[in-house]
Amino acid sequence: MDKLKIFSGTANRPLAEKICQYLQVPLGEAVVGRFSDGEISVEFRENVRGQEVFLIQPLSMPCNENLMELLIMMDALKRASAGSITAVVPYYAYARQDRKTAPRVPISAKLVADLITTAGASRLLTMDLHTGQIQGFFNIPVDHLYATPVTLEYIRQNFSADITIVSPDAGGVERARAFAKRLNTTLAIIDKRREGPAIKGMTLIGNVWGREAMILDDMITTGATATMAAELLILHGARAVHACITHPVMARNAVKNLQGSLLQTLAVTDTIPLNPEAASLDKIRVLSVAPLLGEAIRRIYQQDSVSSLFV
Ligand code: R5P
Repeated sequence: MDKLKIFSGTANRPLAEKICQYLQVPLGEAVVGRFSDGEISVEFRENVRGQEVFLIQPLSMPCNENLMELLIMMDALKRASAGSITAVVPYYAYARQDRKTAPRVPISAKLVADLITTAGASRLLTMDLHTGQIQGFFNIPVDHLYATPVTLEYIRQNFSADITIVSPDAGGVERARAFAKRLNTTLAIIDKRREGPAIKGMTLIGNVWGREAMILDDMITTGATATMAAELLILHGARAVHACITHPVMARNAVKNLQGSLLQTLAVTDTIPLNPEAASLDKIRVLSVAPLLGEAIRRIYQQDSVSSLFV
């Protein structure tokens, strides 16, 4: 692996360290700071000429700062003649703005794709995109990983075989159906209706009476979806409700909402670091996707199949 270099922005250094531990390579030295007016300063302290560079930076909060940091770091790598630059973005923000839902609104997910490409990425490595179609916004290769191997293992080890998998909205049905199939169990779907950003109503399709239910989702932002879904499932007779959600964005009152919610447990991954308040919640479990990302990096570097990680 003599041409492999791994660097991290400041968004999730613990994840980058775990990935390096898995790969048994040192984390490259890069200094990221701020000028007095808030502009980002970057300096790579080692040679990257001709190297295969992987730069780890989820677009977690503050997402604009973290995005800009990623772009500036890639610009520096490009100008330092890196052989290739893979933007490792375990959580891709702006993904929900992937189409025009009203006149005169942007498609920000596409703009972010253009920015990442222009800054110098030769490849994107990401995980559990809000919608898979975002891959098509890039004209460079995209390796889209799923947290599935980690979350399936967690469910198998901690819950009964007949737990019902629940999609909290129409967008998540495909993911939830695939899980239910792999676990050989039943599926329920929630029809979530929004008016603007606010959730206006939820209707359950399927039966959870007397059963344990597991809500699956790609991200938890304010916690409103998971909290309301848990209430609905209990109302329909579920004996316990759990959730397994890949990206713990945890905005606004998420922690307060979750604390008071009927969710018994909430498993999230470490694509995004948890703030201390969220980390201290009794019901939270953190599953690490570092080995999965590390293995994907190894396979990309050695030109092996990445998709076979998910068979
Ligand atoms: C929506 O389509 C997503 O998959 C999530 O369900 C949503 O973003 C979660 O947001 P919140 O926690 O604010 O309800």
